[in-house]
Amino acid sequence: MKLLEGKTVAMTGGGGGLGRCYGLAMARAGAAIAVSDINLGAAQATRDAIIQAGGRAIAVKTDVTRAQSFEELFDRAEAEFGPLDVLVNIAGIFPRVALVEMPEEQWDAVIAINLKSVFLGARAAIRRMLPRKRGVVVSAASGTGIRGQPKGSAYSASKAAIIGFTRAVSLELKDTGVRINCFGPGATDTPMWRIGKSEEDIRRLLGAGYVYQPDDFSNIVVFLASDLSAPLNGEFISRDLHR
Ligand SMILES: NC(=O)c1ccc[n+]([C@@H]2O[C@H](COP(=O)([O-])OP(=O)(O)OC[C@H]3O[C@@H](n4cnc5c(N)ncnc54)[C@H](O)[C@@H]3O)[C@@H](O)[C@H]2O)c1
Repeated sequence: MKLLEGKTVAMTGGGGGLGRCYGLAMARAGAAIAVSDINLGAAQATRDAIIQAGGRAIAVKTDVTRAQSFEELFDRAEAEFGPLDVLVNIAGIFPRVALVEMPEEQWDAVIAINLKSVFLGARAAIRRMLPRKRGVVVSAASGTGIRGQPKGSAYSASKAAIIGFTRAVSLELKDTGVRINCFGPGATDTPMWRIGKSEEDIRRLLGAGYVYQPDDFSNIVVFLASDLSAPLNGEFISRDLHR
């Protein structure tokens, strides 16, 4: 029996660098995946890769800043694959801007896409999961939320808040059969990580060996989505070579 056999998973940010790898890994573990992204073409590419690898997936356009988008995503996932078992919140942005130069609209966008999305997604998913007494929400936080990063004040604040949100909600979920956890995959070579870096910087950082490849954390996400992680609720699982 595969770890995620029979599970229905909805994932945001599924067209991105990490979302693609996590979707493929969860599908290999037996899950049926509703891959969502605001970039429908990118979500469809992940869907196609999963189907080509022998898995089950659909692609759905989702704007994670809108509550209605989550209802549509979960309705599609449940119509296609059955009751929602797992929500994986991956969508995020990281504009690298110094605090003194940051427009207010950019702060608001980071908080809406990185943080409010986790609230909207978790609330909608958990409302469906509680009557069934099962389900898990897994969200991409970041070690940056703990240690900070220059030109990353909004991003770091949003990721720290995901950790606090996860701990608070886990207390409300005690003994319900529904769980919530988050993770930080460490600096990983994806389009997001490359933004604002010169080719020379990228070569230097990759050469220094402290940047991970997108697939390196996939098995941890599979574990958090699976019943193997049942003892964990409210946890932040991370690795961080900056320590
Ligand atoms: N790459 C890293 O080094 C790293 C490290 C720690 C945490 N993370 C976190 O992992 C997650 C994925 O990062 P990634 O590196 O794959 O980034 P990425 O830029 O490759 O993917 C992010 C995806 O989110 C989607 N997205 C953006 N706005 C959206 C919206 N409003 N609605 C729906 N989807 C939207 C994008 O279209 C994109 O496909 C992010 O939450 C990021 O903060 C990344």
